[in-house]
Amino acid sequence: MAAWMVVSSRWLKPQVLKSLLDQHAWRGDEAVLDIGCGRGLVAIAAARRAPHGYVTGIDLWQEVDLAGNSPAAIHANAVAAGVADRLTVDTGDARALPYPDASFDVVASMTAIHNIPDAAGRTTAIAEAWRVTRPGGQILIYDIRHARAYAAQLKTLGAVDIRMSLPILLWGVLGWRFAATKPA
Ligand SMILES: C[S@@+](CC[C@H](N)C(=O)[O-])C[C@H]1O[C@@H](n2cnc3c(N)ncnc32)[C@H](O)[C@@H]1O
Repeated sequence: MAAWMVVSSRWLKPQVLKSLLDQHAWRGDEAVLDIGCGRGLVAIAAARRAPHGYVTGIDLWQEVDLAGNSPAAIHANAVAAGVADRLTVDTGDARALPYPDASFDVVASMTAIHNIPDAAGRTTAIAEAWRVTRPGGQILIYDIRHARAYAAQLKTLGAVDIRMSLPILLWGVLGWRFAATKPA
């Protein structure tokens, strides 16, 4: 089990991250939101793909979900990656995003929304992700257990071109990656 956890974190998770971000045709100037950004895996990779854009990470910094996560930790990682000039973080809840409607070209989230314990809370978080996505923008999600429910909800909200991966086994739990587009 320990070996599988190491393989998942060191090898498989970076593969999932790459395939998650590969779903978007990057122009390089996108405004990106990373929901549940933790120590910055998605946010930093997105900042590299948007050298003329801007990335915002938001997190509640729950130690129980990710040891050592904090604004200082992600900032240090962004500095080390050379993207600190275009990455900021906010403290906030995915269920009540502190941004106006249609703020972001890309809204991404990886292994975060499942941490909301109740289905109603996860539904609210997906509705919030949809609200802050600009028309023509894309939502990119990888999550364990509930990702297909998120995609189904986004379809009812009007998302198009929903592309769902085959099941992906990370840390011994099945997950799915998908992209969904908000019509322009
Ligand atoms: C397993 S970590 C994943 C971090 C990062 N996305 C990654 O893939 O490395 C889950 C993150 O979601 C955050 N989180 C959990 N519930 C949240 C909520 N309701 N709103 C915002 N962030 C939340 C946790 O604090 C934690 O940093």
